[in-house]
Amino acid sequence: MRGSAFRRWVPRIFHTQAFRIVLVYVFIYAVSATVLVGFTYWNAERSLDAQTDQTIEAEVTGLNEQYQRFGFGGLIDVINSRVAQHGSGVYLFVGPNGSALAGNLTEWPAGVVPEPAGGFAEFDYRRNVQGQDVMRRARGQAFLLIGGFQLLVARDVSERFLTRRLFTTTLPWSVGLMLLFGLVGGAVMSRDVLRRLDAINRTSALIVAGDFSRRVPLTQAHDEFDSLAENLNFMLERIERLMKGMREVVDSVAHDLRTPLNRLRNRLEEMQRRFGPDSAYLDDIDAAIAETDRLIGTFNALLLIAEADSGMTRGAMTHIDLSAVVADVAELYGPLAEEKGVALEVAPSGVLTVEGNRSLVSQALANLIDNAIKYTPSGGHILVSAAQTPSGADLTVADSGPGIPQEDRVRVLDRFVRLETSRNSPGTGLGLSLVAAVARLHDARLTLADNTPGLKATISFPRAPAKKRD
Ligand SMILES: Nc1ncnc2c1ncn2[C@@H]1O[C@H](COP(=O)(O)OP(=O)(O)O)[C@@H](O)[C@H]1O
Ligand SMILES: [Mg+2]
Repeated sequence: MRGSAFRRWVPRIFHTQAFRIVLVYVFIYAVSATVLVGFTYWNAERSLDAQTDQTIEAEVTGLNEQYQRFGFGGLIDVINSRVAQHGSGVYLFVGPNGSALAGNLTEWPAGVVPEPAGGFAEFDYRRNVQGQDVMRRARGQAFLLIGGFQLLVARDVSERFLTRRLFTTTLPWSVGLMLLFGLVGGAVMSRDVLRRLDAINRTSALIVAGDFSRRVPLTQAHDEFDSLAENLNFMLERIERLMKGMREVVDSVAHDLRTPLNRLRNRLEEMQRRFGPDSAYLDDIDAAIAETDRLIGTFNALLLIAEADSGMTRGAMTHIDLSAVVADVAELYGPLAEEKGVALEVAPSGVLTVEGNRSLVSQALANLIDNAIKYTPSGGHILVSAAQTPSGADLTVADSGPGIPQEDRVRVLDRFVRLETSRNSPGTGLGLSLVAAVARLHDARLTLADNTPGLKATISFPRAPAKKRD
């Protein structure tokens, strides 16, 4: 359980803005802390070095005086007495052949060159401390005296050397720890942010899926997320009210218009019957009936498009089998195709499950087949197929008619658009608009392509999710 939560959160946390911000701040903090501490330490060391150097220079002056007054003998005496004091002074006086004449160093330290080439240098040396031979650190200066004698005057700086070593080893660790704390802190903060955003995302997904009654949950934090959630909820409330209002208008218009329209049609049929087949008014009545049918058709199509576009029907989506839809609709249009002299063929396919609203998908397919029969001259043929694709499933109607020119393929999807060439065939210009609206509702893509010759209309459905979106 914990493991899966870890896997679920960690990869996402790295991509959050909150995490990046924390990381950048921790990085800036670590760099500035390092620079600040480093600079302070460097300054302190420099002034300590300067102090040591001054002490050594004073000592050298003193030794030089002794040497001027009492010669080498005097110098050796002073060095011996200083060594006897067991202070932090480090001395070595060697003869021209390299043999030690006085001092507390057993051998000349490597890398120390006498003045004037040398200057101050730091070196390691061995010293007997409480019966133990230990490595120590010293800083000093060496001089070449008359006759090849050499004098080294230095001070023990081991304490400082150890401090510096401690500092250079601790600093990287401190920075590392700082970064680690930052990482953990950032992760915790980001997880919090992610949790809040997830709640908003989940609600949005449910609303997009058609459940307009959903609201973003509020916490008691009264922070910016809460005020965002509050605003979103106000907005949702407003949208829901508008949608409800629209729906009521559409419903009442639908009811108040559909009934009288049907009544009108019935009356016309009644008249047709009453006047008999020889009546002089028959043509006019037929025309009136056709006009009424067109009105009813337009009306139904507009209502269906509104319904599909409102997304309200998303809630009614189930797993449907496209090949069954194809079989049903094709069967329905068989007689019409036959009457027109067009071959309507259905490509065989297995069960093809997508998530959808069966009646709307059937209506969309019916519109495509209706167009194909209507615009394909007799002698032509139509192929209806449902097929599996890598991304889901395709529903295709291909005919051998005149097709739709490339430049009109977007325009014909708009409401009431009919091409000039179709002027003489009946229609409302709403068929393809409905197909497009149904495709949108299903997150599917409608493509109109060349069937050389003819039109190939395809609705590409996405793969049905394993379980319904929660
Ligand atoms: N299969 C087809 N072959 C040729 N043209 C077509 C085909 N389907 C649609 N069209 C063109 O697209 C226009 C819009 O189609 P549609 O929205 O179904 O309206 P309607 O069929 O009522 O005219 C049609 O008027 C026609 O010009
Ligand atoms: Mg049509």
